[in-house]
Amino acid sequence: MSNSKINMKSWLVSRSRYLAVVVLALCSSAQVAVAENAKPQANAIASAHYLATEAGMEVFAAGGNAFDAAVAVSSTLAVVEPASSGLGGGGLWLLHRAQDNFDVMIDGREMAPGAADRNMYLGADGEVNRDLAVNGPLAAGIPGEAAGFVHLARHYGRLPLAESLAPAIRLAKNGFPVDEKYRALMTNRAAVVNRYPAASAIFLVDGQVPPLGHVIKQPDLARVLESIATHGHDGFYTGPIAQKLVAGVREAGGIWTLDDLARYKVVEREPVRTSYKGYKLVTASPPSSGGIALATMLNILNPYPLSTMTEAERTHLVIESMRRAYRDRTLYLGDSDFVDVPIQRLTHPFYADGLRAGIRHDRATPSEMLPGIESEPGGTDTSHFSLIDTEGNMVAGTLTVNLPYGSGFVAPGMGFFLNNEMDDFSAKKGSPNAYGLLGAEANAIVPYKRPLSSMTPTIVHGDDQVAILGTPGGSRIITMVLLGILEFVDGKPPQDWVSRPRYHHQYMPDQVTYEPGTFDAETLATLESMGHEVKDRGRTWGNMHGVRWNVLTGEVDAASDPRWTSGRSMVEVP
Ligand code: DON
Repeated sequence: MSNSKINMKSWLVSRSRYLAVVVLALCSSAQVAVAENAKPQANAIASAHYLATEAGMEVFAAGGNAFDAAVAVSSTLAVVEPASSGLGGGGLWLLHRAQDNFDVMIDGREMAPGAADRNMYLGADGEVNRDLAVNGPLAAGIPGEAAGFVHLARHYGRLPLAESLAPAIRLAKNGFPVDEKYRALMTNRAAVVNRYPAASAIFLVDGQVPPLGHVIKQPDLARVLESIATHGHDGFYTGPIAQKLVAGVREAGGIWTLDDLARYKVVEREPVRTSYKGYKLVTASPPSSGGIALATMLNILNPYPLSTMTEAERTHLVIESMRRAYRDRTLYLGDSDFVDVPIQRLTHPFYADGLRAGIRHDRATPSEMLPGIESEPGGTDTSHFSLIDTEGNMVAGTLTVNLPYGSGFVAPGMGFFLNNEMDDFSAKKGSPNAYGLLGAEANAIVPYKRPLSSMTPTIVHGDDQVAILGTPGGSRIITMVLLGILEFVDGKPPQDWVSRPRYHHQYMPDQVTYEPGTFDAETLATLESMGHEVKDRGRTWGNMHGVRWNVLTGEVDAASDPRWTSGRSMVEVP
């Protein structure tokens, strides 16, 4: 797209914001103008699977609000996208309640079991045993997803939990057809899944990746969901399900106890807030690093006239902001219930001013020149959905079992994969995890602590439009959300946020990776001449789903990432 078009669009955006301000000034009271935001004309959902989007719409049709729909979408994803999320995993749900403008992050992140130890993945040679860290029950944290469903329904929903879980229970019983994504992600995990008979019996066919269209039925999972629908939190975390789950985990070499499950609680967290060029962002707080890193990057970029710069100039500055935010992630971030995370300082514009001062406009800053930790720096899945209802309630939810199909382990009779989220801790200072991320003391393993996440469900409020977005992608999540927000602020529709070609820098390794075709030859040559090591990753990443609400007209639009065909966005007038 030409710069002049970008300029014209951003002029239109700032122009309509100017008009909104004039309207506001002409009204007798500012409150009236705010209250007169046009309500969304439709319910909208964008998720990673058409069956999950349809489940959310079914619950809207039954009289549910956005929070009931979030339970329906999340629980259906747990059934039809076992690679990405599920009852054996966790999630972060960012909520906006319209009636009182209340924002909250529901933290259903996994928690380290009580017997976890900071050296639990180190072998006799003192190095991390990567197999133990990502495969089998020792890799799993105590799951938070079931607790999240119960909390969402009880405190924010309008329908009984049993009604919001009904589509998921039905699909678990009746089955869903295997698609390309299921097969692609299973290809790399089938060997591990084959280690565990309770897993391979459900998710493979004779030990092989199932063919396209093969119907996967999950009666055990349906029973567990029914137990949650009937007994709420206790239906998963105490009683017969918990007993069977813990017994299965321990028999296969895991260390969970009944007490670990009984202790698990969802935590309501104040989201991270920041602003960018007149927009107000509400985003993920610890135990995710996403919101803090996003705030740092946007604060660094705020004064730059990005839309009038050349592609190379703009990309250089965005990369330098990524590098600095990920350095801070490495050094300072972890579960704020266990370590002192300097959220105020890291998200303060003055702090970003200091970081920006070190950026040269003509040269890359080598990462090793930023004070860091001594280190030997050495795919994927998760799921995101965004939705809105006609009252203006919104949910951005990112759910995960970490790597595709989590740890590959299913406890007998349970029917769901356990996560391998323990790998999101730093198993050893300076030793990269599956996403090449480094960590230090702040993210060391401690019993009952939550591993540092990159999940970045985000809501961006402007005077004229609101965005709801997020994506899977491990360490790349935060930079994808940044690039999506930059599109939105330029006035572009959700289709552009989710399809935009992506690039990424995470401090270490000191390298810019990009999706094939992201840059033209001239931009690549300029970035290289500035000292950036640029590398075509040879494949795409992420699975972003976004919703936009025009608060002046009430129009709503939504889009699902075109990189996977299973995603679906729907906008429906009730
Ligand atoms: O919480 C995190 O940051 C990771 N467990 C997310 C993993 C992920 O996004 C994998 N997906 N592609």
